Amino acid sequence: PICYLNGDYQPLDEACVPVLDRGFIFGDGVYEVIPVYAGKPFRLDHHLERLNDSLNNIYLANPLSDEQWTRIIQQVIMHNAEGDQSIYLQVTRGVAKRDHGFPGETRPTVFVMSNPFSAVDTKLLEEGVGAITLEDIRWQYCHIKSIALLPNILLRQQALNAGAAEAILLKADKVTEGAASNVFAVLDGKLVTPPKGECLLPGITRDLVVELADKHDIACEQRDISREELLHAAEIWITSSTREILPVTHLDGHPVGDGLPGPLWQKMYAIYQDHKN
Ligand code: PDD
Repeated sequence: PICYLNGDYQPLDEACVPVLDRGFIFGDGVYEVIPVYAGKPFRLDHHLERLNDSLNNIYLANPLSDEQWTRIIQQVIMHNAEGDQSIYLQVTRGVAKRDHGFPGETRPTVFVMSNPFSAVDTKLLEEGVGAITLEDIRWQYCHIKSIALLPNILLRQQALNAGAAEAILLKADKVTEGAASNVFAVLDGKLVTPPKGECLLPGITRDLVVELADKHDIACEQRDISREELLHAAEIWITSSTREILPVTHLDGHPVGDGLPGPLWQKMYAIYQDHKN
C-alpha cells in the first residue's frame, strides 16, 4: 500500500516519522477516519470540517486547504486497491525537543493511509453484537478527535475480554458514546441519541442517521439517555465510519428487547445502505 507523508507518496512499510515527533512522544495530534465507497470518500466535507474543529481545539493551524486534503486523499485512494477502503489521516504538532509547551516553530506531520474496508460481517447483521456498560473514564474534551486513545483502548479491550464488541460508556449515569462509536437507543418507540457536546465525538455517521431519520419521518430525539433507560431499551445501535450501524442485541449479558436486531434498525440500515450507494 502507498501512503502520503509530509509531501511524499511512498510505500506504507517504508514511511518513517522521527522519534521526537510529538505524536509519538505526547500523543499530540488529531485524526480522521473516512469511509471510501466505490472509490469515493463518503461525507468528505463533514470529515474535513471536523478535522478543522479538532485542529482549532488544539491550537494547531490546519497545514492544508480543503482542496489540498481532497487531492491527497484522492491520490491515496487511487494508489490503493479498488473496492471499499477507509482513509486514516493524522496531523501532529511535528518534531521538536521534548517539552510540554508548544514548540516555537512547528512543521506539522501530515500522514494519510488507506486500509481495505472490511464489509461488516453478515453474521453480525443477523445476530447483532454484544456490548457492556462501563464508566466513562476519559477526559473532558471528547469532542476532539485526539490520537491519544489510551482510555478508549483500555475500555474497548475490557469489552473484548468480556466477549463483547463494544463498551457503552456512562458518565454520571448518562450514556455518552461507545469506546469508538456513537450510541442510539429506541425508547418508547422513538429513536434517541445523546446531544452533542464535550462529552462525546460528533460522529459523522451519527449525524447522518439523525438526518436520515428526519428525512424518512422517523421520530428522533437528541437528549440524555439514563442507565435505566438504556437497560430497558427496545433497541440499541452503535454507529461509526467503519462499522456503519450495528445492532447491539446483548447488553451486559442480557438480551436487548427480544435479543435480535430490531425493526427500526432494519429500516434504518436499509435506508443507510440505499443512501451510500
Ligand atoms: N472512531 N466516538 C468515538 C470515540 C470514535 O472513535 C468514533 C469513530 C465515533 C464515530 O464517529 P464517526 O461516525 O465519525 O466514525 C464516535 C473511528 C472509526 C476510529 O477511531 O477508528
